[in-house]
Amino acid sequence: MESVNQLLASIQDVGRDAVRGGYSRAVYTTPEHDLRQWFIEQAAQRGLEVETDRNGIIWAWWGKPQKGALVTGSHLDSVPGGGAFDGPLGVASALAAVDILKARGVQPARSLAVTVFPEEEGSRFGVACLGSRLLTGAIDVHKALNLRDINGDSFADVASANGLDPRYIGPDPEAMARIGEFVELHVEQGKGLGQDGPAVAVGSSILGHGRWKISISGQGNHAGTTLMTDRADPMVAAAQIIVAVRDTAATQPDARATVGRLTPVPGGTNVIASRVDLWLDARHPDDAVTAHLIERIYGTAQDIAAAEGCSVTLTEESYSDTVHFDTDLSRRITGLLPGAPVLATGAGHDAGVLAGYVPSAMVFVRNPSGISHSPEEYVADEDASAGAIALADVVEGLL
Ligand code: GLV
Ligand code: MN
Ligand code: MN
Ligand code: MN
Repeated sequence: MESVNQLLASIQDVGRDAVRGGYSRAVYTTPEHDLRQWFIEQAAQRGLEVETDRNGIIWAWWGKPQKGALVTGSHLDSVPGGGAFDGPLGVASALAAVDILKARGVQPARSLAVTVFPEEEGSRFGVACLGSRLLTGAIDVHKALNLRDINGDSFADVASANGLDPRYIGPDPEAMARIGEFVELHVEQGKGLGQDGPAVAVGSSILGHGRWKISISGQGNHAGTTLMTDRADPMVAAAQIIVAVRDTAATQPDARATVGRLTPVPGGTNVIASRVDLWLDARHPDDAVTAHLIERIYGTAQDIAAAEGCSVTLTEESYSDTVHFDTDLSRRITGLLPGAPVLATGAGHDAGVLAGYVPSAMVFVRNPSGISHSPEEYVADEDASAGAIALADVVEGLL
């Protein structure tokens, strides 16, 4: 029997990023692969039956694989330079919950599966929750197989190199039928749980969110010989577009819009770029408002690009509607966690994708600063323990 803190401690050196700080555990890279192996070993030590499905989702069964099982889990991949808890806390808590329930002598009336979803963050192939989108059919398979990472490697090739058969990647109705309910425990990623109150909350909803690629084209040229009056520099347009993204979102209550990644092509200090690609992440509870926000940003970006002698395109890469978790399931969970507040979140999750198909819910664990997607993300040991016990209580109550 291992506590959630011992489980997390056992992976604390996997995928540390010496340059960015924190952890970089992109899907199907060595660190994420090592974490998947770690999970498989941990599950086997607990006598769970482990299978990896055709979409690379790992299922560890307490009891026989069956229809309508209770499923809990999260992900082990991270954003670049992410924290220790986003993902692994939910996986480690699920393993710890199995230990807690076994110690309590619980004999499950139906099977429980602990799952690990690949590419939740979309850090490598650009589409978040890729595993759950493939499983449910929320993404077109052809589109998914053709996604490319920063090196130009396709998802199909990378998946194939990691033991999956691209011919079978995609919607999996049999696997879906096994999910009676899905519960994901996750580190809270805002400041929803104050220092003095309860350490866990029940999720209510996820903001609608999406990703758009903005490509600005100009004239690549020499930094020394091109007069300042003779330039079509997409980097200068990009700088103004980023400010416009912030300013446009600021006019819309509850909107969030971020440019967290930008790639100048070719990317040389003494080179005026010929193109700049930037990626926009935008979120709002009302999907129509988000659509309008993107229209306004695109209009402004076109004006800015034209004024700099450049052109611009905007392409949607993914979009997830606002999700309200299953009311009945969430009410049952709230009943099992007396005193736990109910919280909305601005972060996306596999539970949010699954919620469109099966009753799904979330449990959040306190993160005092609210900082996440950063090395400073933090969960105190006693809160992690409280989270694992809460998950055990929820699982026991639902089984
Ligand atoms: C996932 O963490 C997201 O909300 O981007
Ligand atoms: Mn995340
Ligand atoms: Mn996460
Ligand atoms: Mn030269």
